[in-house]
Amino acid sequence: MALEKMTTKTTFPYPIKRIGIIGGGQLGKMSAIAAKQMGFYVTVLDELAQCPASQIADAQIIGSLYDAEKILALANVSDVLTYEIEHIDTQTLKSLHNEGYSIYPSPAVLAIIQDKLLQKQVLHQNGVPVPAYQVLKELTAETFNNLKFPIVQKARTGGYDGKGVVVLKSPADIDKALSTPSMFEEFIEFQKELAIIIARTQTGEMAAYPVVEMVFDDKTNICDIVAAPAKIDAATTEKARKIALHAIEVLDAVGIFGVEMFLTNDGEILVNEIAPRPHNSGHYTIEACITSQYEQLIRVISGLPLGITNLLKPAAMLNLLGEPGYTGKPVIEGLSEALAIPGLSFHFYDKAKTRPFRKMGHITILDDNLDNALAKLELVKGILKIKGTEKKDTA
Ligand SMILES: Nc1ncnc2c1ncn2[C@@H]1O[C@H](COP(=O)(O)OP(=O)(O)OP(=O)(O)O)[C@@H](O)[C@H]1O
Ligand SMILES: [Mg+2]
Repeated sequence: MALEKMTTKTTFPYPIKRIGIIGGGQLGKMSAIAAKQMGFYVTVLDELAQCPASQIADAQIIGSLYDAEKILALANVSDVLTYEIEHIDTQTLKSLHNEGYSIYPSPAVLAIIQDKLLQKQVLHQNGVPVPAYQVLKELTAETFNNLKFPIVQKARTGGYDGKGVVVLKSPADIDKALSTPSMFEEFIEFQKELAIIIARTQTGEMAAYPVVEMVFDDKTNICDIVAAPAKIDAATTEKARKIALHAIEVLDAVGIFGVEMFLTNDGEILVNEIAPRPHNSGHYTIEACITSQYEQLIRVISGLPLGITNLLKPAAMLNLLGEPGYTGKPVIEGLSEALAIPGLSFHFYDKAKTRPFRKMGHITILDDNLDNALAKLELVKGILKIKGTEKKDTA
């Protein structure tokens, strides 16, 4: 009797849900892996037939992320839609949402996040600490000269991996200024860049992953290493956690969010930006947490309960970027030597082509001691390289 009751309570119709993912890059691939583990049916939309997620998904629609017809086609074979990138056609998603399609995070939230200025305004107006920002009505020598240098200029839309962000040191840098619609932001002297993955369900329940530290490569300005947990005191951790949770609540957002923050020299926490999707700084959750950010996303969009988010063991993650000087089909160098390192997990996105500094894969190292994990990671940096079948002179 008891058993029967339990069965009815936990039985879920199969296929559980058909999930449509807009964008088939590495974040889409890892989300698809989590979805497939639980038996979901996954379709991805991407213009590349050989995109990373296509290796995992049950089906792919080949097309642009801005093609309204293709997005509609994806919606029609899915019970719920999500996306792994914010540069997509929000207008089409809005009309689908109005027609009753399930899309998480909502197109309204996406529209706010997509525009760095609007995002900052909404956060600021709702009491989330952000760097001071301003917009120039017109970019002229005079308006530019009046800015307080150094200053950071950001394209309002379309930026990623540091593209669309420039640091301007003095009025002489006017030639380097972006001419696209942009905002100017106070240059923050920070001790560290922190990040935290936040999950928020359709009923408003929230979970926070550990606060981690992002380390950026000087040359490329791409987040190179993530250390979990961040080496900061408990009070700062708690402050960062509270601010990140508040930011997601303010947006009334449902899904998985990467909240990037600055820990300033004065010990202040400022929100830099929010990603409305699984985030590079949360790759480590695959090995270091019981429920990864990817599984959490699938749970949230399907209306299933949240999994737990605590850290099982300290972890260090290294992005494997395409080695400068190479293009063509990727060639992995040093894999055996790297995999001999205890606690190391290797992820390869299987992109058809490499190019300098392209995100090709990552490794995560778990160790009882974070410093040991980071030392092993430095070792891997010298061993594991993603080269290519074609040599390119310019890096
Ligand atoms: N106000 C600021 N003061 C100092 N440095 C900044 C500021 N804003 C951004 N940066 C630096 O530039 C990097 C990229 O900025 P931002 O995160 O806004 O751009 P992005 O292109 O969306 O980045 P990504 O895709 O890598 O997250 C930040 O991680 C930080 O290192
Ligand atoms: Mg960023």
